[in-house]
Amino acid sequence: MVAISKRVYLNVVVLGSLALSSSAQSLADLNCLTEGRVFNCTNFINSFCTQSGQVPVLGQNTVSQCFVSEFNCNFYAWRGEVANTGAAGEFDQANCESVLQTITNVCPRGGSGRVVDGSFWFTVNPNDASCGNVTVVSS
Ligand SMILES: *[C@@H]1O[C@H](CO)[C@@H](O)[C@H](O)[C@H]1NC(C)=O
Ligand SMILES: *[C@@H]1O[C@H](CO)[C@@H](O)[C@H](O)[C@H]1NC(C)=O
Repeated sequence: MVAISKRVYLNVVVLGSLALSSSAQSLADLNCLTEGRVFNCTNFINSFCTQSGQVPVLGQNTVSQCFVSEFNCNFYAWRGEVANTGAAGEFDQANCESVLQTITNVCPRGGSGRVVDGSFWFTVNPNDASCGNVTVVSS
């Protein structure tokens, strides 16, 4: 009994510190686009982060999705801070959500950013170019 409750306690501590460190992630390198369409792509952030967040991406590569709307919402996650020599890996979905949410809140024309020391850069760019047949593309 004692061993079990200790284990439960340790699990709670670990979860607590994970939650703390993830909520402590702050945004770095925020850049707003200065040209292009003004459009709010907030409603697609969750789909992008959930769906593209399951796609393993090599260093120096990008996963992207385009969502058809009044103006199309192009989303990109570039694994730019990692060399292209290692294994593929997915981005952190919570980081994706928080970076893109901040961008849509402060950048009317979209923009890009990452969390401090994050290996993925996230971009949202609303425009009127065709989405083509781009869905989930890792290249
Ligand atoms: C963008 O749309 C969302 C959802 O409709 C809304 O909550 C948010 O306030 C909007 N952001 C801006 C900057 O208008
Ligand atoms: C769709 O994607 C394929 C493969 O990338 C490409 O060859 C084709 O031209 C695209 N079609 C359209 C309509 O964009």
